[in-house]
Amino acid sequence: MPEKTKTEAPKAEVKTSRYGPYNEIIIDHFRNPRNQGEIADADAVAKVGSPICGDELHLYIKVGTNAAGQLYISDVKFMSFGCAAAVATGSIITELAKGKTLEDALKIGRKDVAMALGGLPVQKIHCSLLSTDALHEAIYDYYKKHGIAVPADLEQLHQNIIKGTTIARMKQEQDVDYCAVPNISFL
Ligand code: FES
Repeated sequence: MPEKTKTEAPKAEVKTSRYGPYNEIIIDHFRNPRNQGEIADADAVAKVGSPICGDELHLYIKVGTNAAGQLYISDVKFMSFGCAAAVATGSIITELAKGKTLEDALKIGRKDVAMALGGLPVQKIHCSLLSTDALHEAIYDYYKKHGIAVPADLEQLHQNIIKGTTIARMKQEQDVDYCAVPNISFL
């Protein structure tokens, strides 16, 4: 009987920099955050916290109507009360969201955030969830304030966020979405 060979789980490529676990893109956004601050007359605001670390991210949006008659994010700013990754992910999500229709902005996920930053350390992926939760909550807040019907999946996401269960979902998905995917580095 042939001897069984052990199959190694695929591992993400590991890159390091002189900043240890953070790459140069993350450090750039941490040191020079884009769109940092508050919008005094924001159309909608989200304030979300991480049950893992207690950090917070506040996100402010202005919403306009584009030439096609669609609602879009005309301006967005953030305030981070968290780690370097929280600042960097808050910064990059403003760049990803600005100019997008609300519908398209709702499609921005934490993987998009991590990829736009050239990868995140695995132990910092929950920080990227803070930024996507804040964006989605700001859009939820806009819909509610303006009497717009909230799509069922956004309502469900909102319920998960206020219960703090998006983190649990992230932990479940992390294994398949991030850690086990070869050729994607989060360092
Ligand atoms: S450790 Fe709290 S958001 Fe990064």
